[in-house]
Amino acid sequence: MSSAYEQLLAATISHLEDLKAGGARFVQVDPGLLARLSAAPTKQAAPSSPAPVPAKANMLAPDSAAPAPAPPRPAVAAPSAALLRELLVDPSVELTPERKEAEMARIRERALACIKCPNLASSRRNVVFGVGTIHTELMFIGEAPGMDEDEQAEPFVGKAGQLLTKIIQTMGLDRDRVYIANVLKCRPDTPGQRTGNRKPTVDEMNTCKPYLLAQISVIRPKVIVALGATAVEGLLGRTMGIMKLRGNWQDFNGVPLMPTYHPAYLLRNQSLAEKRKVWEDMLAVMEKLGMPISEKQRGFFLVK
Ligand code: URA
Repeated sequence: MSSAYEQLLAATISHLEDLKAGGARFVQVDPGLLARLSAAPTKQAAPSSPAPVPAKANMLAPDSAAPAPAPPRPAVAAPSAALLRELLVDPSVELTPERKEAEMARIRERALACIKCPNLASSRRNVVFGVGTIHTELMFIGEAPGMDEDEQAEPFVGKAGQLLTKIIQTMGLDRDRVYIANVLKCRPDTPGQRTGNRKPTVDEMNTCKPYLLAQISVIRPKVIVALGATAVEGLLGRTMGIMKLRGNWQDFNGVPLMPTYHPAYLLRNQSLAEKRKVWEDMLAVMEKLGMPISEKQRGFFLVK
């Protein structure tokens, strides 16, 4: 694995290329970051802890004392074509288990060094890449890491995550037999608050999307479960209410996608009827995958 310095340099170059391809003439440059990049390190830093990007980057030419005018920035960034080209595995490529592991390791390394959202790169503790097995037919995709996930570098480990784990177990599976990831790999920052949560912006989701698309291109799941409205929006670009969408199969680049409620919603609304809806979505997923379903499983959370 390359050093943190090399990862930071590669991520910076790729980011600059994306900006240039998008027509940018000026970039946000922090003099401290420039100084770090212009001098190769004498000591190798831990690869999983890329140097944070200062939160308050100014729109300045590097040596200029006077602020330059802010360049126009598109309201919504499209997923970076350059990053997609670099990361996506072509569907025609034969993926042996070893090749899958190697491809995913490459994508992971790239994501761990990502600084495309300077605010998130400087506030995160960890990039929360994904967990489980990449040799699976089933992927669960959530919104973004919360505080617990950021601390433990693993998706869905907080209260909502524990409920997701129970749902997976009730399906007769385990967390290590599926793959769990988020649309956004960094915890959305909440300046001044340690515990707060916020919804990822469309811009952040689009910026991060190449990593998720690349993960999907390696795993090649037979079914994707999108957990909650934000995950559906991040994946399908659709803001139609989750109440209407859930339980109805969608198509994600040829992969059947089941939208369902986010487990955090079930924690807020503990009614049997809402639990049953999510469970029916999971039964549909199990049927699609040809998994055995017992009579007992079919009857869970039935409102009598
Ligand atoms: N909620 C999410 O959407 N993802 C997590 O990883 C944790 C909570």
